[in-house]
Amino acid sequence: MSNTILVGAQWGDEGKGKIIDFLTETADIVVRSQGGNNAGHTVIVGGTKYVLHLIPSGILRSKKMCVIGNGVVVDPVAVAKEIDGLRAQKIKVTKENLMISDCAHLVLPYHRLLDEQRELKKGKNKIGTTKRGIGPAYGDKAARVGLRMADFMQPELFSEKLAARVKENNAVLKAFGAKPVSFKEVNAAYLEAGKKLAPFVSNTVVYLHNALKAGKEMLFEGAQGTFLDIDHGTYPYVTSSNTTAGGACTGSGVAPHRMDRVLGVMKAYTTRVGEGPFPTENEEFSDMLHGMGREFGATTGRARRCGWFDAVAVRYASMINGIDDIAVTNLDGLDSLAKIKICTHYKLGRKTLEVPPSDFRDLTECKPVYIEMPGWQTPTHEAKKWSDLPKNAQAYLQKLAELSEAKLTIASVGPNRDQTIVL
Ligand code: IMP
Ligand code: MG
Repeated sequence: MSNTILVGAQWGDEGKGKIIDFLTETADIVVRSQGGNNAGHTVIVGGTKYVLHLIPSGILRSKKMCVIGNGVVVDPVAVAKEIDGLRAQKIKVTKENLMISDCAHLVLPYHRLLDEQRELKKGKNKIGTTKRGIGPAYGDKAARVGLRMADFMQPELFSEKLAARVKENNAVLKAFGAKPVSFKEVNAAYLEAGKKLAPFVSNTVVYLHNALKAGKEMLFEGAQGTFLDIDHGTYPYVTSSNTTAGGACTGSGVAPHRMDRVLGVMKAYTTRVGEGPFPTENEEFSDMLHGMGREFGATTGRARRCGWFDAVAVRYASMINGIDDIAVTNLDGLDSLAKIKICTHYKLGRKTLEVPPSDFRDLTECKPVYIEMPGWQTPTHEAKKWSDLPKNAQAYLQKLAELSEAKLTIASVGPNRDQTIVL
């Protein structure tokens, strides 16, 4: 029996969805423990593309149980739509393979509007959120005024609580100069979605504990990445949940000592969507990847910012998450390059830094210090095993593992299931 926490070691979009799908083959249960439908996981199976936002990628393998844990914020209308979309793609979604925690908080339309208004108000200092209402929903949770799945399953109670919340939030929206929401419309749309979700809602903590006792294997799928973590990321340019390994415990109700392994997923380079500091960002490199049709967001379609592999960031991610093993994705994105840079340190004024500074203003001032490795200038997307990879690609991957202070266990050379090299 082995329970794995999978985390993104960078700024999200590390290709976690594909690795989760791959690892799910040997797991019994896949658990989401934080974030909401701000996440976007793209998984390609047998030539068909699936984009998942809230439902764990384990749903693509019919015999696996998928759990949306208490730490997730759920937009019920969006999940109901996601379920319909998957069913239209002939994916089974029933209470036999999907559960939603009764303690998960709801995302409501006023959260989305507030998210948008706060971003507008920030002007050039905006965070670049996905505008899915994630920040305001977690804000309500912390302020103890949120609505939870358990409330939602009691229509009368829900409507009563919603009326009060709409009243308060409309006053705030009015202060922003924004349009208020209609209680009647929101109530009707949510109750409709509530009927669809009812079969899935239960106490997932008890389910997970019984499964642990029965020796089931669990995979905790992280959303976003380490540097978007509300505590450890480049605050305030972060999301509103704990995207790091500890979040898997608080967001699911499974205790830390029941976890066996932390797997850090990282790209062979670095990307980021939204605003905020990004020391190794490189325009020429971004243009090259976008020119290949790569690095456009699964949730918002935005072009991602791209840069060289940042070992300073990943070193810190290893510490915070306790990363044992790493999976490196998108190696094939580097196939055409003659030389590849890796940032090993930052310079901040005259200081040399091994880990990122805590203050985002300092991080903005950091200058990356690079080493250079020779490229391989050979397509790698058909490589099936380690020995199929060019020597320089092997050396590059080994260097990333050494700098991450973790063991390289997976290298991915394309979006398909069979483009995965296991070491
Ligand atoms: P929010 O989570 O929508 O509030 O957005 C906050 C920041 O996190 C923004 O920079 C988003 O672009 C980023 N973000 C949120 N979800 C993801 C994700 O799944 N992948 C990458 N970036 C994300
Ligand atoms: Mg993504």
